[in-house]
Amino acid sequence: MIRSVITGTGSALPVRRVSNAELAETVDTSDDWIVERTGIRFRHLAGPDETTGTLAADAARRALAAAGCAAGEIDLIVLATATPDQTFPATATKVQALLGIDDCVAFDVAAVCSGFLYALQVADSMIRTGAHARALVIGAETFSRILDWQDRTTCVLFGDGAGAIVIEARDSGEEGPGIIAIKLHADGRHNQLLYVDGGPSTTGTVGLLRMKGGEVFRHAVTNLAAVLEETLVIAGLTSADIDWVVPHQANKRILDATARKLGLPAEKVIVTVDQHANTSAASVPLALDVAIRDQRIMPGQLIVLEAMGGGFTWGAAVVRT
Ligand code: COA
Repeated sequence: MIRSVITGTGSALPVRRVSNAELAETVDTSDDWIVERTGIRFRHLAGPDETTGTLAADAARRALAAAGCAAGEIDLIVLATATPDQTFPATATKVQALLGIDDCVAFDVAAVCSGFLYALQVADSMIRTGAHARALVIGAETFSRILDWQDRTTCVLFGDGAGAIVIEARDSGEEGPGIIAIKLHADGRHNQLLYVDGGPSTTGTVGLLRMKGGEVFRHAVTNLAAVLEETLVIAGLTSADIDWVVPHQANKRILDATARKLGLPAEKVIVTVDQHANTSAASVPLALDVAIRDQRIMPGQLIVLEAMGGGFTWGAAVVRT
């Protein structure tokens, strides 16, 4: 049975780390409010020389090193982002150039905070057809560039960063490592609850992020619990089989409420939102890399990845490490 196996992970964060207290010097907010409502304590914000593409390339280099794989062995790059370096070309091709890969397939996927799950599904499918042997799947964002820094209800929630994984086609057997199941959803009826008020084809500007936070929160808990259940059923597993949940890191209260709904103990949930805030498409691979490097996630374990974002889009994946 050919499966896509994760052979290496990597991540990258901008140098500048900003605390809630530092934000409160310029925004009408407080450390207490942000921690109590979201669990966020810090976020990293990109400097002028740091872009989605450079962060993605740094994360990719670390993933390649962890996989023991040379850049030239990669034949597919799928990069999830809502904050590309330019409208075109795809930021994936910038990463390709920065890594010195002369020829491979490279393109971006846009599904906002669920982007990494979407990119994973696309890359996994392309690997399982036999067309590709080794892929970089990347989630990378610089949301600080599309935040309205006058709007305290949104600007305190997001950060910048990148996460990358290398996946390889392997015949690993029924109980072996690999991506076991992925389930994705989208419901465009809700695309006015979380969006950017600009774009090349409408205003001709980049635009700024707008969100009805309370409504997003309610949908997130319902949709994430449902898609987790659904993906476990597809994989023939129950929540009791799962060693770790690696959720999209939007809000600690969403993580807690979703885990409670599924009867999953909080100790099984990887939490990085306190350190990175919401890094959109980067958050799942970033959290995965943190938990693999600190050796909470070990080889042979069953993990679940999940995310929900603007669109709405949402999804989950079951993976054996
Ligand atoms: N600092 C201080 N006060 C703030 C604030 C901030 N940064 N942001 C909002 N407030 C105020 C509001 O103005 C409001 O004041 P009022 O009662 O005087 O009008 C009060 O805090 C409560 O606001 P509310 O929006 O009801 O808070 P909440 O408990 O719903 O939390 C979010 C707001 C945004 C943290 C929460 O709704 C959320 O996390 N939503 C999901 C967001 C998300 O995950 N999006 C990404 C999905 S990919």
